[in-house]
Amino acid sequence: MHLHKYEKIWLVFGITCLVVFLTVVGVSAFTDNHHTPAGGIEHIDPEKVRETAPFDNPGVTQLDDDTYQVSIIAMAFGYEGPELKVPVGKEIVFKVTSTDVVHSFTIDDTKVNMMVVPGQVTTKSYTFDKPGKYLIICNEYCGAGHHFMFTEIEVTE
Ligand code: CUA
Repeated sequence: MHLHKYEKIWLVFGITCLVVFLTVVGVSAFTDNHHTPAGGIEHIDPEKVRETAPFDNPGVTQLDDDTYQVSIIAMAFGYEGPELKVPVGKEIVFKVTSTDVVHSFTIDDTKVNMMVVPGQVTTKSYTFDKPGKYLIICNEYCGAGHHFMFTEIEVTE
């Protein structure tokens, strides 16, 4: 079969468009992937929080000599995580999720102010430089008991 000159041009044009399109789609899929911040958004089934690690065993876990993990479940109207006690000067990795509505996990006198969203795990690292008892409060209005939603973390020498 002999293709007319213009048909050839259109054929080449069509293939070029397809290649360009696929490249754009491929590249944006690639860059989107790389736009996710380190660690990304961790998803969790809000109905299965208590069966999902690390929330199946909330509280303080030592990860290595210099790192501790604190996992907390936020819910209307409180925080679940027994006896929060961590050492001063060590990296504390907070992991918080909610079983119901949006809350916050805000540690008084620190830069820790985490938004806690059901279906997601919010992570934040913090190193306390002063020992003492710190108040943890909810800064997002979450209902009638919002003002009673608080707990405490003890930072030891
Ligand atoms: Cu929880 Cu306000």
